[in-house]
Amino acid sequence: MAEQLIPDWTGAHRKDFRKSPMLWQHRVHESPLFSDEKLIELIEKHPRDLADFCTMNEGADDMSSWRGGDPGNHSGEDLLKAVRTGRLWINLRKTFNIHPEYKALLDSVIDELKTLNLGFSPVSMMGGLLISSPTAGVPYHIDRSDVMLWHLRGHKRVWVYPIDEETMPEHEVEEILLHDHNDDVPYTKHMDKKAIIYDLEPGQAACWPLHAPHRVLNLGDMNVSITMEYSPFSTIMQNGAQITNGILRRRLGMNPNIETQGTLSRFVRFAASRILRKMKLVKAKTPHEGGYLFEVDPASNTAVRELGEKNLAA
Ligand SMILES: [Fe+2]
Repeated sequence: MAEQLIPDWTGAHRKDFRKSPMLWQHRVHESPLFSDEKLIELIEKHPRDLADFCTMNEGADDMSSWRGGDPGNHSGEDLLKAVRTGRLWINLRKTFNIHPEYKALLDSVIDELKTLNLGFSPVSMMGGLLISSPTAGVPYHIDRSDVMLWHLRGHKRVWVYPIDEETMPEHEVEEILLHDHNDDVPYTKHMDKKAIIYDLEPGQAACWPLHAPHRVLNLGDMNVSITMEYSPFSTIMQNGAQITNGILRRRLGMNPNIETQGTLSRFVRFAASRILRKMKLVKAKTPHEGGYLFEVDPASNTAVRELGEKNLAA
């Protein structure tokens, strides 16, 4: 592979990084680590408790249709075939942290980003590999951490929305931070006119500001991307402050505004959120809550076989 993975990072990139939605070119997709053969090997060897198999409605415009499934005992080859022919979205979480050859690639990317952006020093970076079907997508949502999406194979459209009173009111951000699952996001189609749209090609990457709402739809072929998630202290502090704001709003009827809260105020609120967490006013995360709602079935059209109520975990 060429020496530089990020060949044309400009002053504009440096200025916008983590502050505005932005796109850049990379060469990570030239690595041999993302061939069908390597994906099959990875699906088979990756720990199943770090793998999410999900599906969604056609068009991926409704978060309430998003559900997790059981990959069963299918081979890596059959599961990759199911992705290619069905409507599945697989996240092999921490691929770039636990498998040495993938970790080496992530380390090189981070080293370059640090060189290109003085002061950029993520304490921890989680790298997941996303493998998704030609018609799969991720409905409108926000992430709790900073995210970069490095696109490797296939084509996908990403809509990135501003954070405003219509697209993501502050009380909704707090609701999402306070509870693990919140399907009640304010998305309507007419918000799309506010969105920046990126049609990602292999060799392009995108990121956006913390808590910017976004949605994704694949454009007719199987997609492979890397999702890099990280939380610098500024993000941990902002999330903590917004959790405290959420509790003040809900329990004391106050009307706090994160935009007007400076570093000291955010720090005090972040510290308070740690105490509130201990008081169990903030719900802890529980993965796979609610159990699997479908089984992967490579023979069906969408590769999904719905499960009945009896299979929901207590
Ligand atoms: Fe996201």
